[in-house]
Amino acid sequence: MSSPLFQSPKGTRDILPDEHLYFSFIKKVVRHRCRQAGYRRISTPVFEQLEVFQRGLGDTTDVVEKEMFVFESKSGKKLALRPENTAGVVRAYVEHGMQQLPKPVELYYIEPFFRYSRPQAGRYRQFHQFGFEVLGEGDAAIDAQVIYLAYKINQDLGVADRLNLQINTIGSTEDRVKFKEDLLNYYTGKERSLCEDCKRRKDKNPLRLLDCKEEDCRILASLAPKFSDVMGAESKEHFARLLEYLDELKVPYQKNPYLVRGLDYYSHTVFEFWSKKDGAQNATGGGGRYDGLVELMGGAPTPAVGYAAGMERLIDYMKEADIKPPNKDQVHVFVAQLGLVAKKKSLPLLSQLRERGINTVGAVGKDSIKAQMTLADRMKAEYALILGEVEVREGTIILRNMAKGSQQTIPYEDIVEKMVKLLGENKLESKKMWEE
Ligand code: HAM
Repeated sequence: MSSPLFQSPKGTRDILPDEHLYFSFIKKVVRHRCRQAGYRRISTPVFEQLEVFQRGLGDTTDVVEKEMFVFESKSGKKLALRPENTAGVVRAYVEHGMQQLPKPVELYYIEPFFRYSRPQAGRYRQFHQFGFEVLGEGDAAIDAQVIYLAYKINQDLGVADRLNLQINTIGSTEDRVKFKEDLLNYYTGKERSLCEDCKRRKDKNPLRLLDCKEEDCRILASLAPKFSDVMGAESKEHFARLLEYLDELKVPYQKNPYLVRGLDYYSHTVFEFWSKKDGAQNATGGGGRYDGLVELMGGAPTPAVGYAAGMERLIDYMKEADIKPPNKDQVHVFVAQLGLVAKKKSLPLLSQLRERGINTVGAVGKDSIKAQMTLADRMKAEYALILGEVEVREGTIILRNMAKGSQQTIPYEDIVEKMVKLLGENKLESKKMWEE
C-alpha cells in the first residue's frame, strides 16, 4: 500500500470509533464518580498566556523548559498550548472570585493537553487527561479523599490491580529551602558525575536531581541527604495522618522517599500511580498538594490538592487487562426495503424506532436486498426488518434475527412495540435520556 498523502502530525493520534468506546467509558466513570463526590466540571481555554505556566509550573521544570508549544499572537503576546490544567484552573479560580464559594471548591475536567515531548510508547504531543482540583482546605483528609477518588476510578476501569500507588511528602516551602541548601552542599564537587541536565539544574533546582533517571545520577541521589532529616513537625504530622486515612480507606500504597514530581507547585503530599510492570516509565496519573499556587497566581493564600490521569495510558492498561468497554454504538436494527413504496414507508419507521431509543440503520441509498443484508451483517445488527412490496400491500413486515438466521412475519403496526420488547426497554436510551 502506498503511503497516504497526509498523516496526522508527529506525536498525535486520531481517535477512531473503536478507540472512542474506551474514551466514552472513562468519561462516564469519571463524571459519575465526580458527581457522587460533589465535584463540578470546569473547562478552561486550550491556550493561556505563557506566563501562567512559567509562573505556575516553574521556569526550570522540563515541561516549561522543553515541552511547551509556544506561539505569538498577531499583537505579539506570548501564548502557550496548555501542557496541564492545574495552573489554568487556578488562574480561573482567582479570575472569577471563586474563593467566595463554599469551601472546599471541588472541580473536575476531561480535556486535551499538549506537550512537545519526544514521541514514544504512552507519550504523545496531544493527549487527554481527566483530573480534579480541591481548593480551600488544608486537612490531610482531603488529600486522602482525592487519592481515594483516583483509586476508585482505577478500580472502575479494571486497572487498579495493575498499578502501584507511590506516595511521599516533599514538606513545606520552608522545609524545602533548607533541604535545597543541604543538597547543594552535597552535590557541589560532584558535578562531573552528573548528566548534562542535572549539571544545569543543580544550582537552580537541586530537588530535581533526585528524580533523574540516568544511572550515575540515581546512584548519587541514593546517597544524598534525606528530606526526612530536615522536615518540620507539621509536614510529618500531615503525612502521618494521610497514611492513617488511606489505611482506613483500605487504599494500598508504597512510601517512596524519592518521589518528587516534575512540577514546582507541589508542597507536602505528592503521589503517582505506577504500572507494576513498567514502574515510573508510564505513570497513569499523579498529583499532590499545592498550597502556595493560588497566592503565586495572584489570589489569597489557599490550600489546595489535586490529581490528573492520562487517558491514553489508562486505555493501554485496560487493553492489557482485556477490559472491553460497553459498546453503545451497537446497531440494534437494520431496516431493509425493496421498491419505492417500501422505501417511502421505511423512512418514518426508521425515525419511530430511533425515537424509542433503538439504534437503527437503514441503507436507503441501496436498492438490492442482497447488498442491504450484507451490510446488515457487516454492521453486526442484532435484527433486520425487511419491507418489500408484498409486505406493504399486506400491512406486514419481516423480522429477522441476524445471529440465528430465523425470521417471522409481523403486522406492521405492532413492529415498534415488538422491537422495544425484544431489545429490553431499560437497555435502550430513549430520546429523553439527556434530560435525566
Ligand atoms: P503530570 O504527572 O504531569 O501531572 O500528568 C498527569 C498524567 O498525564 C501522567 O501521569 C500521564 O499519565 C499523563 N501524561 C502526561 N504527559 C503525557 C504525554 N506526553 N502523553 C501521554 N500522557 C501524558 C499533571 O499534569 C498535574 N497537573 C496533575 C495535578 C493536578 N496535580 C495537582 N492537580
